[in-house]
Amino acid sequence: MKLTIERLTALSQQDVIDLEKIWPQQAFASGPLAGDRALFAARFNARLLAAVEVEVTGTTAVMRGFTVREVTRRRGVGRYLLEETLRQLPDVRHWRLEGNRNDAALQAFMLACGFRAVGGHWEK
Ligand SMILES: CC(C)(COP(=O)(O)OP(=O)(O)OC[C@H]1O[C@@H](n2cnc3c(N)ncnc32)[C@H](O)[C@@H]1OP(=O)(O)O)[C@@H](O)C(=O)NCCC(=O)NCCS
Repeated sequence: MKLTIERLTALSQQDVIDLEKIWPQQAFASGPLAGDRALFAARFNARLLAAVEVEVTGTTAVMRGFTVREVTRRRGVGRYLLEETLRQLPDVRHWRLEGNRNDAALQAFMLACGFRAVGGHWEK
């Protein structure tokens, strides 16, 4: 099975279980996704391994909650999710990622992916 990056439009019951492992502090419901924030996720063997929420306003996008499940870190999943999310939204010119600036892994990851630290977030 191949790793794929998807923009989720509806959640299955399995997706809900997976997302609650990725973001334990959030609750999800199965069914169509409402609202103006997009959810991109990495899927492998029918399971979601990583996800990010994206809010697009014109040519600017803000990513929040970028997380790869701990068991699958350092295998390129994060980089693939980030690169594919950017590729799937070609009209966006300015990217921002909000996250914990004191998280050393996230800091190293964002710099490795070509973002720069600006104030309390990262930009590209
Ligand atoms: C940061 C994070 C997204 C990285 O995901 P990942 O799938 O492990 O990253 P990748 O394997 O794609 O790494 C790509 C590159 O980033 C850098 N990198 C990633 N994790 C790193 C770490 N822990 N230490 C140093 N460099 C790191 C490396 O350069 C790596 O390339 P390499 O493995 O060839 O050396 C993941 O560790 C994570 O989800 N952390 C928690 C983030 C969080 O708290 N999110 C919630 C709010 S934003």
